[in-house]
Amino acid sequence: MTIDNPGVPLKSDWKEMDMPSPKTTGRLFPIIGAVFLLLVSGLGGTCLAKWLRPPVAGEVAHTVGLSLPPALARWKKPDLTLILTGQQYGYLLPCGCSRPQVGGLERRYNYLSALREAGWPVTAVDLGDIAQKQGLGPLTNQQGLIKYRYSMQALKKMGYAAVSLGLSEAKLGLFKILGEYALNDPDPRVLVANLSNKETDFPEQVFETALVQPSGSPIRVGITAVVGPTISRKMKDPIAQFGSSRDALAKALKSFEKKTDLRVLLYQGAMGTVANDDSEPIAAAKAFPDFDIILCVCDEDEPPGEPLEVKQADGRLTRIIRIGHKGKYVGTMGVWKTPVGLEFKYHLQDLGEQWLTPTGGVPDHPVIDLMERYAKEVERGDLLGKTAQSTHPFSASVPDAQPTYVGSDKCKKCHEEAYKVWESSGHGHAWQTLADAKKPGLRHKDPECVLCHTVGFGYKSGFVDEVRTPKLKDVGCESCHGPGSEHLKSTSDETWHKLMNPWKAKEKETATENKTRLKRIDQFCQTCHDMENDVNWVDQGFAKKWPKIAHPTPLEKK
Ligand code: HEC
Ligand code: HEC
Ligand code: HEC
Ligand code: HEC
Repeated sequence: MTIDNPGVPLKSDWKEMDMPSPKTTGRLFPIIGAVFLLLVSGLGGTCLAKWLRPPVAGEVAHTVGLSLPPALARWKKPDLTLILTGQQYGYLLPCGCSRPQVGGLERRYNYLSALREAGWPVTAVDLGDIAQKQGLGPLTNQQGLIKYRYSMQALKKMGYAAVSLGLSEAKLGLFKILGEYALNDPDPRVLVANLSNKETDFPEQVFETALVQPSGSPIRVGITAVVGPTISRKMKDPIAQFGSSRDALAKALKSFEKKTDLRVLLYQGAMGTVANDDSEPIAAAKAFPDFDIILCVCDEDEPPGEPLEVKQADGRLTRIIRIGHKGKYVGTMGVWKTPVGLEFKYHLQDLGEQWLTPTGGVPDHPVIDLMERYAKEVERGDLLGKTAQSTHPFSASVPDAQPTYVGSDKCKKCHEEAYKVWESSGHGHAWQTLADAKKPGLRHKDPECVLCHTVGFGYKSGFVDEVRTPKLKDVGCESCHGPGSEHLKSTSDETWHKLMNPWKAKEKETATENKTRLKRIDQFCQTCHDMENDVNWVDQGFAKKWPKIAHPTPLEKK
């Protein structure tokens, strides 16, 4: 899709959106630029010295041995390959619960390595939202910071030039996340040009711009980033102070002049429901035609396959790219230098199983190594033991009761048939599956895995670990039926029958009622068999899987 920027005045809401408010023409930038020339020319020299950085360590890639994907093998070798990612939301690697799953840092590394092994000059940028905004299900986000640090380390290994920050980072606290990484390591460089207190509160941690020229490329890339007004308003971080993104962009572009061939903007703002002048990234593209590429926030999980193009008054194009969520895709912009200017080609690469590390590439794989270290750190920190335990909803239904988890063994005596079905089902060894997992190992020590693979994790008296709560390993009876101690005290108490089996068929159930009831059971299964963890559930998952675990009480026992 192409949108024209004829240079006519833009809608008035722009002012509120902290974007340029052109009074006469759309090309307001030179005016602002002139003002800034006066204000900042004195700073130019010092800023510049910092920009021209030597290639970062990640450019020396470890050999994985994968070839270019077919779509790229048809391209003439680009003069520059710009990798665009963002909104990873804590997905370090696919959990492996089902196949095929997409995404993860290991595969991203392998993809970038394939480009580098083909001799392509590569640099990479990330929009931010690297860690998850909140913990999984009932879990607090105690892993967010750790994941942020390991992700940044992985991006460094991949030779990222710049990374911005989003709501996820703000939710964890800018002070914390910058202390977690940028304070100790300048690569990849963290950019937020309009974070106005960056020099005072985050010196040498947050920057306005980065300039890179990957080895072997004739193209000099200038990168900047801003947090747009819609998102900065949502950032409830008391330490973060945001100035005008307009002023920051004008200043950044001014400093790029003549020293860059390609200008990239990481824009923390979304397109919104309709792509028009009210969309912040489009507004930015129109107001600052000198940006060749804008990477902005994607509202949807799945990204569009092509950039949205803004045709500037002078015929140049600004390409607005969105990359989807959870690190499933990598945007790849090929750039060629021609006598008449730069030429561009875009390829959206999904990180499917073709990007798994081939056997032989594993022993010194830097990202696999990082993931193993991540898993060890989670174990060492005893995050399982530190997970907060909330009260089970049963307590709200029967206020005086204190139901606790007792373990599936306790149910065997009276519900022999149900127990048999359960014991031989996948649920009966769900914890062992985690303990046996490799690459990385120690998954049975990770709250984010244990959550669905044990009984009552995150609830009072629920699973903690195999030593403290050995009877609550695996997906047990009480994972579905809730804590059973009160039922054991009085097995004929119907209050507890009702609470523990909310799916019970009423007598003489009609076909319609049966359908509705099974639908409810199906929805319940999906609290664990969700779209991420059981990718095949959508394909008749319930119809196929319920018969494998259904355990009606035999008639003679009723
Ligand atoms: C001492 C025997 C005994 C033990 C132990 C026992 N139950 Fe029961 N359970 C019963 C009886 C009796 C009923 C009521 C008859 C029926 O519906 O089968 C029942 C009913 C149920 C029901 C069905 C309620 C309904 O109305 O459909 C569920 C679910 C249930 N038990 C789960 C468990 C779980 C989980 C455990 C282990 C934590 C457990 N029971 C342990 C005896 C027992
Ligand atoms: C508490 C989380 C949880 C809930 C709720 C849950 N499951 Fe599972 N289920 C799992 C886990 C984890 C596994 C993987 C066990 C393994 O292989 O280690 C699994 C595996 C299975 C398997 C075996 C794998 C296969 O494809 O044959 C079946 C069948 C299954 N679940 C059916 C269901 C059905 C039907 C429901 C709803 C009535 C349900 N599950 C509810 C967590 C859950
Ligand atoms: C939201 C619930 C949920 C979470 C969280 C979860 N799992 Fe699972 N896991 C499942 C379900 C459901 C299945 C069964 C899928 C199926 O039936 O195909 C499963 C199955 C598995 C399997 C068995 C796959 C197979 O081929 O048999 C592995 C391994 C696994 N999970 C690992 C993990 C790891 C590692 C984590 C943490 C990173 C994790 N799981 C977190 C729900 C979950
Ligand atoms: C994956 C979730 C899950 C697990 C695990 C599970 N159940 Fe159930 N159970 C259900 C559902 C859903 C129903 C309601 C099915 C229906 O009425 O059609 C049910 C029904 C029952 C009933 C009532 C059966 C009837 O005929 O009315 C009993 C008793 C029961 N479960 C006991 C157990 C025991 C004991 C275990 C462990 C050995 C267990 N369940 C494990 C989901 C589960």
